[in-house]
This record gives sequence, structure tokens and C-alpha cells, in this order.
Amino acid sequence: MKQQKKIAMFGGSFNPIHNAHINLASVFIKKLKLDKLLLIPAAAPPHKSDSEMIGADHRINMCRLAAEEHKKIDVSDIEIRRQGKSYTVDTLRQLHEQYPDSELYLITGADMFMTLLDWKEPQTIFSLATICTVPRNDDDYEILKEKEKQYSEMGAKTVVLDVKKSGISSTKIRHLIFSDESFSKYVDEKVEKYIYANYLYMDTSTVNYERFDKVLKSRMGEKRYIHSQNVAAEAQRLAKKYGADVKKAKLAGMLHDITKETPGSEQLAIIENSAIALNNVEILSPKLWHAIAGAAFVRDIMKIDDEDVFNSIRYHTSGRAKMSLLEKCVFIADFIGAERNYDGVDEMRALANKSLEEAMEYGLSFSIADLAKRKLAIDPNSLACYNEIVLKALASKNR
Ligand SMILES: [Fe+2]
Ligand SMILES: [Fe+2]
Repeated sequence: MKQQKKIAMFGGSFNPIHNAHINLASVFIKKLKLDKLLLIPAAAPPHKSDSEMIGADHRINMCRLAAEEHKKIDVSDIEIRRQGKSYTVDTLRQLHEQYPDSELYLITGADMFMTLLDWKEPQTIFSLATICTVPRNDDDYEILKEKEKQYSEMGAKTVVLDVKKSGISSTKIRHLIFSDESFSKYVDEKVEKYIYANYLYMDTSTVNYERFDKVLKSRMGEKRYIHSQNVAAEAQRLAKKYGADVKKAKLAGMLHDITKETPGSEQLAIIENSAIALNNVEILSPKLWHAIAGAAFVRDIMKIDDEDVFNSIRYHTSGRAKMSLLEKCVFIADFIGAERNYDGVDEMRALANKSLEEAMEYGLSFSIADLAKRKLAIDPNSLACYNEIVLKALASKNR
């Protein structure tokens, strides 16, 4: 006789997934000799309020990252695709159809186990799967065993494992993240990076440069990270010299290239979500997208809601007419950060120390000429910026 495959469903919010989830999955895989364990993030768990629940896409992506190196753990989006409230019985029915010759196991938390009879169609659940759980704290093993007796009298198959309690919970991890405390020992390294890169669970009401640093490092390589730090330093120096807001210069300089190493499709998705309209040159110039997506990311995802910072990032590549002092400082700082060494950088540095306008003109001429040489379109914002500066200089000469 062909041996039935053993498949377990491990449902939960996974908000976020952490090491104890994966450890528990591994324990069950070993003890029950499972062929496969499916992590099934819930769309909207009926037992939880939605307040701190982040989007399903993020939760599923983190589960995939955490499961990457475990070949018996897979991630299933069946509950997410189904939308609405997730009922275990519906998921089990679906899995039963999907794996008709398999033996199904359901892994659930202790508190869920205790209230099984309140779930939708408990008898059907009993008939479809073996119900597995572990104690939540030191003294509920006996209580779970009592409950197990009751369920087996009703015809259920159950497994209560006496594993040591981990002390980790998603709630605790969310709290650590929100308080800017380290949570790296509780989650997979890739999950930690994902949380920073997507700015999940963070306290958006506070400014914390160490946190911003981690976000930058999770989104870019070493070289661009150094460039960002150099632009921040240079933007601050110029801001101080010319009377712009130094703190904002640091912020905008640091974050100006935050989406530069983000794939184009993702940059466009960020722009689209922020309802920013692109002009015809921007649509066809992928090099301009990172500035627009970066500004949107900083404003809409990091919730740094400052118009001047937004515009300084938004126009750091193209420039535009009527730039603020801060915008100019960031635009120029991008040309003369400490690591820059192109032909003409010394002249640009000297001009930046003399006059923002002259440095702007030099920088813009440089970019416009370079684009024309490569037969690329020139953003009307750059032309407007260039003309504004040149016409002002001409007018003052003719006066
Ligand atoms: Fe840039
Ligand atoms: Fe840059």
C-alpha cells in the first residue's frame, strides 16, 4: 500500500513570523515525521482586531524568507487569496481537495486549542485533521491534556507536545521594533532586513537616525550607503553656510537615494501608490524614477511629512524652477559628496563655496550636456531650472 503523505497546516497571523514559529514547525516536522508543513498566513483572523495587522503581502513575503532554507516548510497563500474571514474548516477542506491522498495535521496555539468547540464546524475539523498544539506557558500542559481527553471522546485525533516555552511572541517583537530596540535574535536575518527595508511596525512619530541608517543599509549596498552619508554631510555644510534648515538637510541628504537600488517596477509601484503624476520625460526616463519614488517612500511609508524634504528628494536629479534653499543644497551636495571624483568636481566644489546659483548652473549644464550627448531626453524641470538661473544672470548683466 502506498504510504500517505503527512501534511500539516500551521496557520496564524505571522505578524511578523519569528524564530519560535520556525522552531515549532521543525519540532512538529520531526516528531510527526511530516513530509511537508505549510505556513498559512491568515487574511483577517476572526479572533483578532486588525489594528496592528500589516498587509498580507508583507506577512507572506516574510514567511517565504523565513522558510527559504527549510526544505520541508512551504508557504501557502490560500487564506489570503480567499479574502474575508479565515475559517480553519474552509482551509482544511481546500487542503483536503488539493492533497486528497494525504493525512492532514493542524497545528494551532494553546488558546485556540482550548476553544476549539467554538470554531466553525468543529466536528468537520476533527474528521479532516489531527489537531496538534503545545503549551503556551509552564502550567497549561495538564490543562491541555484534560482538553485532549474531552476531544478524543468526541472522536478527534490530537497531539499535545510538551515543548519548552520560547518566550517570544509577535506582539513582543512588534513592541521592540516600535521602541527602536534590537530584535535580531528573534527573527531570521532576512526577515529583519525586510522589516527595515519596508519600514514595518516602526514608530513613525519619532526621528531616529540610527533607525534610518538601518533602513538605508537594508535597501542599498555599501558604496551607495557611503554616498548617502557624504551627501548628508555636504548638504548640512551647505545648509549651514547658506542659511537652510540643517536638520532637514541631513534628513533629505541621507535619504535622497533611498530607492535608487530598488527595482524599476517597484519604484513605479511606489510612485503609483502615492498618486504622483509623471511628466512625459519622467515616464520614459528610468533614471529619474528613484528620486520620485524616494520622495514618495519617505513621505508615505516613513511618514516624514515635510514638503521641503519631499521636494529636495523629488527634484534632486532634475532640479526645477523656483527651488528652495534646501532643494539647492541637496542638489549640489549630490554632486560634491566626499567620494565624488569626476572631471570638474573641484570646480563644482569651488563654485558651491562661492554661490549656490553658480554651482546649480554648472551642475545643470553638466547633466544637460551629458544627456544631449547620449541622445536622451531632457526633463522640462531641468530646462526650467537652467533657464531660470541663466535668465536671471543675463538680466542682472543687462541692468
Ligand atoms: Fe540620486
Ligand atoms: Fe545621489
